[in-house]
Amino acid sequence: MIWKSVRELENRNGVLYFGGCSVLELAGKYGTPLYVYSESRIRENYRRLLDAYKKRYPQFKVYYAIKANNNPAIVNILRSEGAGADASCVPEIKMAQQAGMPNEDTLYSGVYNSDDELRYAVENNVRINLEDISQLERLKKMKVPAFLCFRINPGMGSGKFQGLVFAGPDAKFGIIERDVKKAYETAKSLGVESFGIHMMTGSCILNPDYFEQVVGKLLDIAGPIAQQLGIKFDFIDIGGSLGVPYTPDEEELDMDMVAEKVVSKLKEKLAQYDMGEPFLIHEPGRYLVCDAGILVARVCSIKSGYKKFIGIDAGMNNLMRVALYDAYHHILYANNLGDSEREAVNIVGQICENTDQFAKGRMMPKSIKVGDVLAILDVGTYGFGMGSQYNSRPRPAEVLVCNGASELIRQRESFGDLIRGTAVPKRLQYGKKEH
Ligand code: LLP
Repeated sequence: MIWKSVRELENRNGVLYFGGCSVLELAGKYGTPLYVYSESRIRENYRRLLDAYKKRYPQFKVYYAIKANNNPAIVNILRSEGAGADASCVPEIKMAQQAGMPNEDTLYSGVYNSDDELRYAVENNVRINLEDISQLERLKKMKVPAFLCFRINPGMGSGKFQGLVFAGPDAKFGIIERDVKKAYETAKSLGVESFGIHMMTGSCILNPDYFEQVVGKLLDIAGPIAQQLGIKFDFIDIGGSLGVPYTPDEEELDMDMVAEKVVSKLKEKLAQYDMGEPFLIHEPGRYLVCDAGILVARVCSIKSGYKKFIGIDAGMNNLMRVALYDAYHHILYANNLGDSEREAVNIVGQICENTDQFAKGRMMPKSIKVGDVLAILDVGTYGFGMGSQYNSRPRPAEVLVCNGASELIRQRESFGDLIRGTAVPKRLQYGKKEH
C-alpha cells in the first residue's frame, strides 16, 4: 500500500495510478492543476462508517456535510449510497435538493442566519437546526415548523488545529448549556411537535475516546430536557468530526472501535433518561471524501537559492489548508514512485505570497525535474471548495475516476470566467477584449 488503506493509489512500474488511471495520463488529458476523486474510495468510506454503526444501532443515518466538497457528482455518489445532507446555507439546500435528497433528510445548520435564509429553509420544508434562541423569535414571525433542532455548544470541543475547535468558550457556534432548556421550552410553547438535538464540536479528531466523551456530555444535556419538558427526540446528531490521518505516522480511525464506544455510551444514556430509540446521525465530510481526492500538479520551475524550491502549477489558491492551518499534506512523485535518493526541498506554488508553500524541508526524490507530475494527497475535502481565483488564476478542473475510466465533473475555468459579471463603465473602456 502506498498510502494508508487507500487501495486506489497504486504503484504500477513506478508510475502513480489512482482509481485505475495513470496520473500522468490524467495530467496530460485534462491539464494541471487538476483535482481527481475516486468514486470507489468514497463508497468504501461511506460503507465502512455505515456498517460499523448500523450493526450496533440500526436507527443510524449519515448526512453528508456538503461544504466539504460540493461537486454535484460527489454529492450524488453519497446520495446513491443513501446519505442525507448537512447543508450550511441556501445553495447547499439547493444542492441537496438537486441530488434528490429528501427534505426530511436535509438538516439546514446555518450559522448566524439571516431572515431570508430562514425563510427559504422553512418554505422549502427542510429540517432546521437553530444555533441561537434569538433565531426562534425571527422564525416565529414566518412560520413555526413542526420539527426543530437546536445546535448545542456542550462546553467542550476538540480539533486538529485551534481553528478547527467548534465548541467550548471560544467558539462562535451553538447554544450554551444554560440556555438549552429555554430554547426547547419556547419551541414547544410555539407549537413545535418534534425535536432533534445537534452538536458539532470540532473537526479532524483521531481519538476514539473523545467521541464517547462528547456524546455522553450531549446526552447529559438532552436527557434532563426530555424528561423535564416531556419531549421526545427524533434524533441525536453528533456532527462530523471524524478525523483522517494526514501525516505518515498518524493512523486511521478504527471505525468499529469508535462506533462501539459511541453506541454503548448512547445506549447507556438513553436508558438512563428513558429516551427511547431516537435516530443517531453522523454528518461527516472529511471521513467520507478526504482521502478519495488528490491534487495533481506539474513542476514548472526549479530554483536553487537559499533552499531548493520546486515550483508547481498548483498553489494556495487551489489548496488553502497549508497556508491557513500549517496543515501537512503528503506529496508523491507521480513519475517515479520508486526513486529513493532524496533531498530536502520546499514545494511551492506560483502565487505572490510566501505562505504559498506546500512543504518545507520535505525529503523528495532528487530526480524531480521540470515537466514532472506531483500528487498532493488527502485533498478530497476542503480543497477545491476553499480555493479562490487569487492572483487572477482560474479554478482548476475536477475529474472522477473509477475502475480505470475518468470523467470530467467540473470544467477548468477560463479567462472569461475570471471577469464574468464584471462591468467597466464606458468612459473607462480601453484596450482589446479577450475571452
Ligand atoms: N457539520 C457541521 C455543522 C460542520 O460545520 C462541519 C464542518 C461538518 C459537519 C463536517 O465536519 P467534518 O466531518 O469534515 O469534520 N476547513 C477545515 C474544516 C472545517 C470544517 C467545517 N465544518 C479543514 O480544512 O480542515
